[in-house]
Amino acid sequence: MARPTSRFVCQGCGEAFLRWEGQCRACGAWNSLVETVVRDTARVSRGLRVASDGTSPVALTDIGDSDVPRLATGIAELDRVLGGGLVPGSLVLVGGEPGIGKSTLLLQAAAGLGRPVLYATGEESAAQVRIRAGRLGLLGVPAGTAIEVLAEHDIGRIVDVGRSMRPALVVVDSIQTATVDELDGAAGSVGQVREATLRLMEFAKGESIAVVLVGHVTKDGSIAGPKTMEHLVDAVVSLEGERYAALRLVRASKNRFGSTDEVGVFEMAGDGLVEVSDPARAFLADHAEPAAGSVIAPTMEGSRPLLVEVQALVAPAGYGTPARKGSGIDPNRLGLLVAVLARRAGVALGSYDVYANLAGGLSVGEPALDLPLALALASSLRDRPLPAKSVAIGEVGLLGELRSVAGVERRLREAARLGFEMAIVPRPNRGAGPIEANGLQIVEVATLRDAVEAALTGETGRHGDAVPALLG
Ligand code: TYD
Ligand code: MG
Repeated sequence: MARPTSRFVCQGCGEAFLRWEGQCRACGAWNSLVETVVRDTARVSRGLRVASDGTSPVALTDIGDSDVPRLATGIAELDRVLGGGLVPGSLVLVGGEPGIGKSTLLLQAAAGLGRPVLYATGEESAAQVRIRAGRLGLLGVPAGTAIEVLAEHDIGRIVDVGRSMRPALVVVDSIQTATVDELDGAAGSVGQVREATLRLMEFAKGESIAVVLVGHVTKDGSIAGPKTMEHLVDAVVSLEGERYAALRLVRASKNRFGSTDEVGVFEMAGDGLVEVSDPARAFLADHAEPAAGSVIAPTMEGSRPLLVEVQALVAPAGYGTPARKGSGIDPNRLGLLVAVLARRAGVALGSYDVYANLAGGLSVGEPALDLPLALALASSLRDRPLPAKSVAIGEVGLLGELRSVAGVERRLREAARLGFEMAIVPRPNRGAGPIEANGLQIVEVATLRDAVEAALTGETGRHGDAVPALLG
């Protein structure tokens, strides 16, 4: 075999050069160039093409559903996020922080498949995998026997074993420990991760075998390794949650075979991840009585309403710039709401430290969280709780105006189902009919100032005089 030619690829930006240089000419990083194998491009594109048996076109309507077969993992919450199960020949990246439960989830999914699975682990020894399998109750049952464990980090070996074994699924735990023989770079370097991903992609497409990669997540929440890895794979699924809390959320940020809206909710128990039966209430903290600084928000995760508790704490700032800290929420949004509250709603937080988070380790990006967050801040500052059994939802504009959010009725129906009695919502756009939510008292407000008034004045809108609009 001829000696493969190589390029020097920047570990920071991925730019390739013909020879080694101390500084990358593209991004300016020092000592970032790593030798990378140059691939036979014809072979790569052949490998990347979705397997098809002919080249003649087929009418769109003649393509049956069955053309995308699915391998159900038997874990309903996971299958839903994947769009119905794993697709043979697809490459799925499962990301998450260390210790969050990626290996646990994949071992459970492998067992649930009920088909032969190759579980390649470069992170743990076979014995460690066995201990986990024992906790999950997979030893000595047929589901466990179908899983072959291979303690190996060399991708060439893993692919060879996969080719001869022909399992339904190959799990590679993790891509950061995988290495490609031809490269000198350390495991986890951009060159190694990219090359390993490419080879697994080629294997998956070529053999029509589903491959799941485990990927670690860096401090800032992105999957460690080159961005190109996320472009290559068919789906990126992340496992989120607080390591020291039990709840875990599975979410797809990319999915070529399904929607990216769905979330799956799990709880980490002594014997693995257990599906949560009523996720809508899972993220509510338990309080006997309403507390100042706490607001319940009916958020939507895809098509699924989730009620979450927004908590805020406002305390006089010491010396220096006041703190604005949030977890599970966008910090820019927090800063903006502090400003809007001060200028448009008479809630001056300028000389206070502000902390806000979501109970249960959830993180929510939707702007609908604005109003509950703003009300939680105002409630903490005034040290007055919102009325008992109330929820709030809505987007806040820079002028202090409130905007309605998608799916208000679904959210409120869910809140009513869980026993909430009152909702503070933006007044619907002109032309839209009144919001219907069985049994919930709905307080419609047009501005943030009115919302604060409705939420925190003694009347709480119950008797109808303190609020601008009140529908039964
Ligand atoms: P693990 O799947 O090893 O996480 P990752 O692969 O993402 O690093 O699991 C991490 C934690 O989960 C570990 O600290 C122990 C805990 N755990 C349970 O609480 N119950 C269980 O049944 C298992 C297998 C793990
Ligand atoms: Mg692991």
